[in-house]
Amino acid sequence: MKALPTLLTLGLLLLSITVQGKVLNRCLLARTLQRFGLGGFKGISLANWICLAKSVSGYDTKAIKYNHEDRSTNYGIFQISSRYWCNDSKTPGSKNFCRVSCKALLKNNIKASVTCAKRIVKDPRGITTWEAWRKNCEHKNLFQYVQGCSL
Ligand SMILES: *[C@@H]1O[C@H](CO)[C@@H](O)[C@H](O)[C@H]1NC(C)=O
Repeated sequence: MKALPTLLTLGLLLLSITVQGKVLNRCLLARTLQRFGLGGFKGISLANWICLAKSVSGYDTKAIKYNHEDRSTNYGIFQISSRYWCNDSKTPGSKNFCRVSCKALLKNNIKASVTCAKRIVKDPRGITTWEAWRKNCEHKNLFQYVQGCSL
């Protein structure tokens, strides 16, 4: 009689770990990005990164999107492109400026994505590199993205 609730609890725990590993919760992402030093990096506030992540991947660390036009692929929570930034060994003319395997940008631990994002915004275009940022985050009130998070 005691085993069932225990198993149920264990099941729920495992489920929540699995889910959390893939699609991050907004405030958990905010704290993680803060810890990795992305908040304020190059003058870009944390809320901009949360907004970007929400709009490009829905906070999904495993998000992958193929672009037919140039046969490149976008990877991970920030949808970083194999065209310029990471290497997936299948993108014609890939530059791999972040010197990272695209697969590393899909890990539950988003450190590699953060490191590459920092490299990306060091370029003159900065965060405007992401069209989705211009469309969904630029000139918007971004407070909702960090609201209620203990940072
Ligand atoms: C990508 O990785 C492959 C396999 O390791 C390597 O041969 C290739 O030179 C790399 N390409 C770039 C652009 O870094």
